[in-house]
Amino acid sequence: MEEAIRARGVTRTYRSKGRETVALAGIDLTVPAGATYGLIGRNGAGKTTFIRIASTQLLPTSGSVAVLGHDAVADPRSVRNRIAVIPQESRPLYFLNVYELVYLYLKLRGMPGTEARRRTEAVLVELSLDSRRKTLVSHLSGGMRRRAMVAMVLASDAEVLFLDEPTTGLDPVARREVWSAIERAIRDRRTVLLTTHYLDEAEALSSRLALIEGGRVLLEGTPAEIRSRIPRPFRVSVQGRVTREELLPYGEVAEVRGGHLVFAREEEARELTRLALAKGFPVSMAPASLEDVFLQLVGRPIGEDDPEEEGTA
Ligand SMILES: Nc1ncnc2c1ncn2[C@@H]1O[C@H](COP(=O)(O)OP(=O)(O)OP(=O)(O)O)[C@@H](O)[C@H]1O
Ligand SMILES: [Mg+2]
Repeated sequence: MEEAIRARGVTRTYRSKGRETVALAGIDLTVPAGATYGLIGRNGAGKTTFIRIASTQLLPTSGSVAVLGHDAVADPRSVRNRIAVIPQESRPLYFLNVYELVYLYLKLRGMPGTEARRRTEAVLVELSLDSRRKTLVSHLSGGMRRRAMVAMVLASDAEVLFLDEPTTGLDPVARREVWSAIERAIRDRRTVLLTTHYLDEAEALSSRLALIEGGRVLLEGTPAEIRSRIPRPFRVSVQGRVTREELLPYGEVAEVRGGHLVFAREEEARELTRLALAKGFPVSMAPASLEDVFLQLVGRPIGEDDPEEEGTA
């Protein structure tokens, strides 16, 4: 396996106004080349800090990171030539229009004019920005501005792309256009390190994922591996006149609008589903989603904040 990013024992402590924050407490990660790797975790977990270190914008307090075999601390120049970054907070150059933003970015990276023009045209169509090509970046809506940043980076020929929440604030259609663009980048044998709070997105795009919590890697693996690593990997949604007490023997129960949600092991999940069907209650059984896993591992107990669970039976 070719490695795009190899991090060992990476720590980072921020010091400001006499206060110390340990943002990374020892991160080991191996990101294979030619695939999308997802970093997920709660706000403040350390994802952006890791991306800034691996993309040579921030020095680690200790540990090492190599990108495509080049040391990010000792040899940042070699790394910078081969990567492109969408930072979490980005302010594109406001006096340019959308076309210029993308085209000049590619030129600045050393791409010949003809190639830069061809790629700019293609990415503007791909991300539905073509009709806005002459619009000043400062006149774009927030989501369109974000798309323009995504366009710049995806049109580049960088081998490793660091995308820190590229789809935050995008409408559902635009989000899927970005997914397609990321998938195309992977077909071109590039590597994407992605952070996102949309766990359906993390699951749809990533070959592997790391769940970061408190500056450490809590879990790492393929989405399926991660989903199977919780004690109760199935979710059963039951509607109808069933009490919490009746459901408790089957697993972990949460009351949701119109019914109950039970997280259970496979056997119990099947049994409960059969029983509910026999009684004529609407029921559905499915593997736990990545979001379920996330909530079970790093969230509050299920049910405390589960507003989306309605009408899924
Ligand atoms: N410049 C800074 N100075 C001091 N503390 C910082 C700085 N940047 C980040 N931190 C702290 O480091 C920790 C990790 O932050 P980081 O931005 O890496 O988290 P994140 O996982 O990207 O979160 P989010 O999902 O909200 O983007 C947090 O506790 C944050 O407050
Ligand atoms: Mg962040």
